[in-house]
Amino acid sequence: MRQRRIKDLDEKLDVYSGGIQVNPRSLKGRWASLFDSSAPVYMELGCGKGQFITSLSEAYPDRNFIAVEGNRSAMLRALQKAVRHFKGIDPACEAEAAGSAFTPALEAEVPKGIFAIDPDKAGITPGEKFDTPYKTSQDDCLFKVSGNLVFACMYLRDVTDCFEDGELDGIYLNFSDPWPKERQAARRLTHRRYLMGYDQVLKPGSLLEFKTDNEPLFRFSISEFDEFGLEKTEYTEDLHAPDCEFASRRFMTEYEEKFSGRGNPIYYCQVKFK
Ligand SMILES: C[S@@+](CC[C@H](N)C(=O)[O-])C[C@H]1O[C@@H](n2cnc3c(N)ncnc32)[C@H](O)[C@@H]1O
Repeated sequence: MRQRRIKDLDEKLDVYSGGIQVNPRSLKGRWASLFDSSAPVYMELGCGKGQFITSLSEAYPDRNFIAVEGNRSAMLRALQKAVRHFKGIDPACEAEAAGSAFTPALEAEVPKGIFAIDPDKAGITPGEKFDTPYKTSQDDCLFKVSGNLVFACMYLRDVTDCFEDGELDGIYLNFSDPWPKERQAARRLTHRRYLMGYDQVLKPGSLLEFKTDNEPLFRFSISEFDEFGLEKTEYTEDLHAPDCEFASRRFMTEYEEKFSGRGNPIYYCQVKFK
């Protein structure tokens, strides 16, 4: 799904930062400090517009969630959806839809309270904060949308760059980009190069869940899981079949709604790291 170019994207994203701009890459080893309570931390890599992780975070208040997305337009949509989801309405988003300009008055209406990151608690020193709004579209940024959910806008090539050994309790990969050409295989998020990173940043015994409608990507991923010696704890080639009881089907992503709505089977596998 190609994202349409969003006008004034940087300014719009800035509205959601709550005035505290944090580089998510500086949080390696202290992600847990961002949340309101100490609880296991789960990460979705490539959250897109964020529907899956937003619903999951609401269903599991006793768990903490990090949603990582490298595309800034998708991240803005995820933030807008999350605000609407938690608050019922997002004035900035409604104004954008109506074609109104973003004004300081409008900014003031965005419910900043729920976005507050406590810099002291998170151990963020002034040097790690951006003093000015985003200068280039390359800037990474972080947003707290509820007590147990943060969105990190960054493109992750190696999860060990941003997470410490054993820092995560689970990983979700939903409808990851298929990178169909053989020479692009190493970019697939289930390539062994990524699996090695997940193995490092996950606690022993943690689970990774993977969903896709793309059969070649699914077959490739299963062979990478096998090669890596991961135990398959849940597996189905039709997650939305009426007799399928896996919990993962209860929380749908935007892509999943679209493709399962067209009658495509959704492939799903859960694996356990040693
Ligand atoms: C095909 S979309 C699926 C989005 C969402 N998971 C869904 O199912 O609706 C894949 C998303 O993953 C993001 N992505 C892919 N590789 C990434 C990476 N290494 N780091 C961060 N985001 C990534 C892309 O920008 C894109 O928005």
